[in-house]
Amino acid sequence: MNKVVVKIEMSGNRYNAYDTDGNKYTSKIGTSTRRSAFVKGMALEKREGKGGRTYWWKVPMSEFEATSIPVIDVSSIDVPEEHSELLNFIHSSFKLKPNGLVMRELKWKYLVRSAVRGKNILMTGPAGCGKTLAAKSVINALDRPDFYFNLGATQDPRSTLIGNTHFEKEKGTYFSESLFVKAIRTPNAVILLDELSRAHPDAWNILMTVLDEGQRYLRLDEADGTETVNVAEGVTFVATANIGNEYTSTRVMDKALMDRFIIVEMDVLNDEEEHGLLTYMFPHVDSTLLKSVAEIANSTRVESRNESGRLTGGISTRTSVEMAGLLYDGFGIDEAAEVTVYPQYSDDGGVESERTYIKQLVQKYVSDETSDDLFGEDEIEGSYSTGS
Ligand SMILES: Nc1ncnc2c1ncn2[C@@H]1O[C@H](COP(=O)(O)OP(=O)(O)OP(=O)(O)O)[C@@H](O)[C@H]1O
Ligand SMILES: [Mg+2]
Repeated sequence: MNKVVVKIEMSGNRYNAYDTDGNKYTSKIGTSTRRSAFVKGMALEKREGKGGRTYWWKVPMSEFEATSIPVIDVSSIDVPEEHSELLNFIHSSFKLKPNGLVMRELKWKYLVRSAVRGKNILMTGPAGCGKTLAAKSVINALDRPDFYFNLGATQDPRSTLIGNTHFEKEKGTYFSESLFVKAIRTPNAVILLDELSRAHPDAWNILMTVLDEGQRYLRLDEADGTETVNVAEGVTFVATANIGNEYTSTRVMDKALMDRFIIVEMDVLNDEEEHGLLTYMFPHVDSTLLKSVAEIANSTRVESRNESGRLTGGISTRTSVEMAGLLYDGFGIDEAAEVTVYPQYSDDGGVESERTYIKQLVQKYVSDETSDDLFGEDEIEGSYSTGS
């Protein structure tokens, strides 16, 4: 039987008992037992006495903590030692997440787990939501040899992924292999394939066999298929794809290629999370200003998700970080928006345009900011238009 240990928490005037999974045991334990455990700061363990009578015995709080996920079942379900280490690593890995990366615990742990399990990982999400940052962070956390390739920026996939054939008078023709070849030959390497969705289709074709569980080799010569390089033991691929969570994958990337990955979808931050990030990054900027930035960004995201909404896309976290940086350097919200946000929205359609919509949205926060100086604002506006 599984050991049951509960902790007592006080809510109102009740002493509630919960185990580490959050199951409630309050009604199974006498009030005075619960109260006394609470007062002494101890946990209660369920025990069986003579004749099968159960009772609850006070035990140190560490007994309760010991029943929480990473450690529990290890003894009772006979997990091999290596596996228990792995379990511990995965479930305590949230502390390896850098504070500057906002990502929910489950997602982060899934990412770490997939990496240590040697899966091919594809991080998806809209532009500027932290895909590259998260991929780099998990690679840092793993303490394994790492390699970075930005496939969105390569003009010539063959030379980046395979290598070049050279000719020199003395040596004749020879082949110099790419850094990518070196990377896949390195046991336990973690290889970041950034912006895979923007890569040349030739790159996708070359990667097809590399990423296939059953093949895991790179063909050095596409034409006759003679020489191949095998992907070394333990190599993990982490790719990023600029695919909005709302899109179906195949629209942007080849279905067969997508199928070779497990998908980790980056969540777009809500306004609270974004405010938290901005405050963490810019502790010296007035928090209410940062809140406005977070709220503006969030409203655009909500609006763009809305079918009858006026915006086709939302402001990315990358952009709100830029806005906050401008606030830090003494610009106003309206100025920051004018240079970073407005250019992202078309002014086709005049007053019906996305640009007008976003300006009005930002304006709400600007007037908030200077509510006691509204007339001054109007005058400035007025003098602008007459001056031009
Ligand atoms: N979840 C997040 N946590 C912390 N910072 C973030 C997050 N998302 C975005 N940022 C900020 O935005 C910047 C851009 O993030 P990143 O380069 O990871 O985006 P991306 O999803 O890879 O974008 P793209 O699709 O354009 O490649 C980061 O440097 C960081 O300042
Ligand atoms: Mg990126």
